[in-house]
Amino acid sequence: MNPKPVAFTTGAGRGIGRAVVLELARHGYDIAANDIVFDPADRTRGLLEVQEQAERLGARFLPLPGDVSSLGDQERFIGEILAAFGRIDVLVNNAGIAPAKRIDLLETPPESYDRVMAVNARGAFFLSQRVAREMIKRRESGEAGPLSIIFVTSISAVVSSPSRPEYCVSKAALSQTAALFADRLAGPGINVYEVRPGIIRTGMTEPVKDKYDRLIAEGLVPQGRWGEPEDVAKAVAALATGAFGYSTGAVIEVSGGMNIRRL
Ligand SMILES: NC(=O)c1ccc[n+]([C@@H]2O[C@H](COP(=O)([O-])OP(=O)(O)OC[C@H]3O[C@@H](n4cnc5c(N)ncnc54)[C@H](O)[C@@H]3O)[C@@H](O)[C@H]2O)c1
Repeated sequence: MNPKPVAFTTGAGRGIGRAVVLELARHGYDIAANDIVFDPADRTRGLLEVQEQAERLGARFLPLPGDVSSLGDQERFIGEILAAFGRIDVLVNNAGIAPAKRIDLLETPPESYDRVMAVNARGAFFLSQRVAREMIKRRESGEAGPLSIIFVTSISAVVSSPSRPEYCVSKAALSQTAALFADRLAGPGINVYEVRPGIIRTGMTEPVKDKYDRLIAEGLVPQGRWGEPEDVAKAVAALATGAFGYSTGAVIEVSGGMNIRRL
């Protein structure tokens, strides 16, 4: 078995997932990193760029191109990780998509609803189920170190945006998924957490940058700035390394205070 703990992060080719991988590499993890976008000829972006950075930090790195919404791809990821490392110590369910177009709730196309749910909610549910079974086996064979599953949801789990309802519904479902897995896996000693980002500066929010610049300037975010991917990654690393060992099921909001109800 691999001597170092292994972190498996989905959607790790850019944005929050990329930052999570690099933060966990800094904390001494070896890395399995998935993304649906993969260009084997381009080392300047995507998984291969992340690989170069992670290896510079001393991590072994296994790139796993593929679609988290495909159960066949999931089976391949687990097989490749176990063949390369023999262990998974933390799963970070980070891959997620926004609707291709923001469209009013009264016009949401069923195809967009189904795709967003398939990636954001269904994919993470079944991947967690598969990884949880492996983690339970590890516990049963005497593993004493931290084992955890972390769900990257969104404030959209509880905040309404009627122009992208399928995203909000998918994140609410993912939030309940985190609670369910936390409950079920507490007995076997596998901790499960929800990390709930607010407005984070990534490729996902780039198309609506001007709108959020304005809202932040007008005071929407109590801490008065955009979140950076590293803000989320630091929370994930604290959870993965056991700093919140007696807090399974916790929801950690990384939103600059948007959780505060204000008058
Ligand atoms: N950026 C924000 O403001 C924000 C806020 C709250 C929550 N989030 C959540 O954080 C997570 C990461 O978001 P981000 O802002 O880094 O987005 P991003 O679009 O920059 O990165 C997401 C990555 O996931 C990959 N991906 C998409 N579909 C996939 C699939 N089916 N299988 C595998 N990989 C896939 C993409 O290729 C991309 O590299 C998402 O779940 C998102 O919903 C983001």
